[in-house]
Amino acid sequence: MRARDLPWRRTADPYQIWISEIMLQQTTVAAVIPFFQRFMARFPDLKELARAEETEILRYWEGLGYYSRARNILRAAKVIVEQHEGQFPTDLVQLQSLPGIGRYTAGAIASFAFDQRAPIVEANTLRLYCRLLGYEGDPRSKGGQEQLWTFAENILPRKQPGQVNQALMELGATVCTPRDPACGECPVQSYCQAYLTNRQSTIPRPKPKVAITAVTEVSIAVRNGAKFLVRRRTADERWAGLWDFIRFEVPHESPTLPDAMIVQSTQERTGLTIELGPQVAQFNHSVTRYRITLICFVANRIDGRLKKDEEWQWITAEELEKFPLSVTARQFAQRLHPSGRAIVEGQFLLDGTL
Ligand code: ADE
Repeated sequence: MRARDLPWRRTADPYQIWISEIMLQQTTVAAVIPFFQRFMARFPDLKELARAEETEILRYWEGLGYYSRARNILRAAKVIVEQHEGQFPTDLVQLQSLPGIGRYTAGAIASFAFDQRAPIVEANTLRLYCRLLGYEGDPRSKGGQEQLWTFAENILPRKQPGQVNQALMELGATVCTPRDPACGECPVQSYCQAYLTNRQSTIPRPKPKVAITAVTEVSIAVRNGAKFLVRRRTADERWAGLWDFIRFEVPHESPTLPDAMIVQSTQERTGLTIELGPQVAQFNHSVTRYRITLICFVANRIDGRLKKDEEWQWITAEELEKFPLSVTARQFAQRLHPSGRAIVEGQFLLDGTL
């Protein structure tokens, strides 16, 4: 078995290992690689990151999801610069006291970067250890976690524990796969309780399925000349800290949305009176347990003053490039021509028609 050559494996730099592990908690290796490379090109070390603006970091994180992780990265970088003289702590307890660094990430940094005997249990090793142990309980329960972390600690050798952790994770990712594991190629087949009793397909116990809720939302690019209105999403909202067009939920059942309702909701949220233009796009997007249908309109500002206590900006479609947006807001933004006209099926809407 040959391990994959991955950018974050070519280094013992705790900073790069940390960033890669946080990204890998959200999506697949293939999806992470370009994000990781772009991030490292812009923020090559901890000091560069610690002095960056949160907005710029979010822009580099855009599309990865779980934006609180990007904010925690900045907070942790500042703590390391201010309290640890810019050097990553090597101690597991100190690592875990940093924002956004839990037991797994601390173990990955301590073992991969500092070759400490620190255990790790993440998605790949969790599956591998459950099968090796023949563990039929819920691996995410308290008791399951205790058993798995104890096992992860006990199997680590004194020599090169970092390499061994990497190898175990790789085995989980490439051989001990969720479906149809390649047991014939597995070097630890003869120790595997699941293999020996033919229970690979039922171990680990699957996660309970979450019910999916369908939601319909409306987003409106309110225009004033060539500028569009965007609002920064607040800490208590989904995608906190990202910018977005006006956006609100509408009743899911209604087959057509009454214009008057959209105009009124916009007025309530912004303080502005608008003239609603055409629908320019519709996107489907899944976030956690929500399946969101987003219906996008353009509109003209007629009058009114923006409500206080919200962060608003009027910006051109070109300036939107620099603002971190949610995935669907970015798709919407790409339909807005730099002149401030919306593109509908390749046609520009002339100013007067809006
Ligand atoms: N998944 C989580 N961490 C990983 C790593 N370091 N390499 C590959 N896959 C991973």
